[in-house]
Amino acid sequence: MKKHYTTVKLAFSSALAALVMAGFTSCGKHDENSPGVEFMPDMYRSPSLEYYQTHTVDGDTLDNAMKPVKGSVARGYLPYAYPNTPEGYEMAGTNLHNPLPASNRELWEKDGEVLYGKFCVHCHGATGAGDGKVGGKLPGPPPAYNGALKNLPEGKIFHTLTYGKGTMGSHASQLTQEERWKLVYYVQKLQGPKETPAADTAKAAAPAVAAKH
Ligand code: HEC
Repeated sequence: MKKHYTTVKLAFSSALAALVMAGFTSCGKHDENSPGVEFMPDMYRSPSLEYYQTHTVDGDTLDNAMKPVKGSVARGYLPYAYPNTPEGYEMAGTNLHNPLPASNRELWEKDGEVLYGKFCVHCHGATGAGDGKVGGKLPGPPPAYNGALKNLPEGKIFHTLTYGKGTMGSHASQLTQEERWKLVYYVQKLQGPKETPAADTAKAAAPAVAAKH
């Protein structure tokens, strides 16, 4: 009885070993490059869909990413209404005012000072005299805030930060609108008090003619 049991056991293990061997050797015999049986081929071979395109998948036609509706405005973002033209510059100078409340002026100036140290000081210099290390190498160094730019209105400062002017590039991609307005407060601090309120309005109108030509 015992011997019989051993024979059955031996026969069974040999059959199992043969099966395992067959299993190993059968893979890739026909085509070396074939991965064999694929379970869920969709997972390996997903359809390659280009973004912002219309596709038909399983009979359904749809856009795989919806474009925003024309004229939509992203949350927290205010479109800038003044065009990058001499007229837009003048309009900004007359109509555009800092939306950050002046009651927190000192706070904005502090943040503005930090931003100024990162984005502006190398051209405009620490006191805004236009004597930064890079500014001095420009064909025309930046004018001094408390000199030629003393009475530059806040709207124009913001406009220049947004679009750039001359050799100064646009800072719209590096600085949010709020950061640009904080910088306006800091530039105003460097401008110092305006010369005289009466001369202020006269001067604001005068460069309008000069800037156009
Ligand atoms: C690459 C050097 C450079 C950098 C960086 C730079 N500026 Fe200027 N900036 C200039 C030059 C040059 C002018 C003069 C442009 C002109 O009138 O043609 C100027 C002009 C200005 C003006 C006067 C704009 C006007 O309407 O006349 C302001 C204000 C100003 N910059 C602020 C800033 C602030 C704030 C920063 C930092 C965010 C900054 N700039 C970064 C070079 C630079």
